[in-house]
Amino acid sequence: MKIAVAGVGYVGLVTAVCLAEVGHHVTCVDVDSKKIELMKSGKSPIYEDGLENLMNKNQERLVYTTDYKKAYQNANVIFVGVGTPERVDGSANLDYVYKVCENIKESVDDNKIVVIKSTVPIGTNDDIEKRLNENSKIRFYVVSNPEFLAQGSAVHDTFYPSRIVVGVEDKYSEEIMRQVYQPLIESPYNAPYLTMDRKSAEMVKYASNDFLALKISYINEIANFCEKIGADITEVAKGMSYDSRIGNKFLDAGIGYGGSCFPKDTSALHWLSQAMDCELKTVAATIEVNKLQRLKLFERWREDFGNNIKDKTVAVLGCAFKPGTDDLREAPSIYNIELLLNYGVKVNVFDPIAEKNVYLLFEDRIHYCSNIDEAIKGADAAFIMTELQEIVDYNLSYYKKLMKNPYIYDGRNCYSLENVEKSDIHYYSIGRRCIK
Ligand code: UDX
Repeated sequence: MKIAVAGVGYVGLVTAVCLAEVGHHVTCVDVDSKKIELMKSGKSPIYEDGLENLMNKNQERLVYTTDYKKAYQNANVIFVGVGTPERVDGSANLDYVYKVCENIKESVDDNKIVVIKSTVPIGTNDDIEKRLNENSKIRFYVVSNPEFLAQGSAVHDTFYPSRIVVGVEDKYSEEIMRQVYQPLIESPYNAPYLTMDRKSAEMVKYASNDFLALKISYINEIANFCEKIGADITEVAKGMSYDSRIGNKFLDAGIGYGGSCFPKDTSALHWLSQAMDCELKTVAATIEVNKLQRLKLFERWREDFGNNIKDKTVAVLGCAFKPGTDDLREAPSIYNIELLLNYGVKVNVFDPIAEKNVYLLFEDRIHYCSNIDEAIKGADAAFIMTELQEIVDYNLSYYKKLMKNPYIYDGRNCYSLENVEKSDIHYYSIGRRCIK
């Protein structure tokens, strides 16, 4: 099948490349000519494991272009995977999605299926279909097909999705969508495939992401309480996880969730529920808990050092919102670096994958280090913000050896307390006893 994909971010590009791998002919469209040129040279504009290999392997079935007219005209199905960033008031900004739809409308002269992969508020797909078909001689069929991939494992998640959800309102698009996804429904991928009405499909996405965010905020609150009461969150989470109704995933306490999905999707659903006079109180609480959680390391450090922090040096270890990505969107590290700088603290950072993006934000205001030794050398404290493998594997004795004050604030519970106890460092982690 001939497919066009609008947007070459995480959702669009990964979808495009994976659809090419299973046999479709895919044209990737983006307004950013630099990104298109980069992809033509075989490079991916985003870091995602396995993506570049697949781009190169499927060169014959992949085209990259800024010429949206031609791309949309030639396609049987057009996927839309552009961003829906958060507005200041928390609502989703749909400008990019609507712009792409306008471009589609002005470009094509036969019936098209338009598949919305971008996360959009409930009811948006109905609105898009209405706009596309208004004063149009041809017929547009709009499908909601929310994306569940996680960054860092996006390629794997696309081939082996937990489920493919397709929201349709007519038999024709239902049939075509099944054909698009047939290779993934079949062996060896065996993806569960669900068809439902469009609004429900839109809601599945928000309800799933907000539930996962809620689970994280819940375990973080329990962790904070464990600290007060003298329990250990690792043991508590383990004890909870044996109940199959709770499960063992998303129970890692830490300094809060970040990324391009949870913060945005909780805000959007919160905003929408308020706008419809039906506030979702659990979603509001999830957001509030996460905001406070991000500050935990900084606050604890200030408790330990008093007001005497100006001109001290902090090593920030790990900056991305999670390992395996260079994405800094809503990463807790960013709030912490900003806070540290506001207090006149000197900041060394270590994150080999995300460093370039950190530089775009902070330029020469902070010091960039190519390894952990360099970052912690002479530092007064280390804040662990991301559980990068290099950090997890780091020899704890070096903190004592290299730092001025071996005060470690671990926002991702990277080390066992048993090992920490042997290494003569001051160690604060989330929801566990502090080791002095
Ligand atoms: C998430 C969803 O997992 C995915 O299904 C959806 O399509 C997009 O949003 P992603 O944002 O890539 O994916 O990352 P994820 O691995 O879910 O982590 C999000 C954040 O939650 C990270 O900051 C991570 O550190 C944090 N997290 C996750 C925790 O703090 N504790 C956990 O137990 C799990």
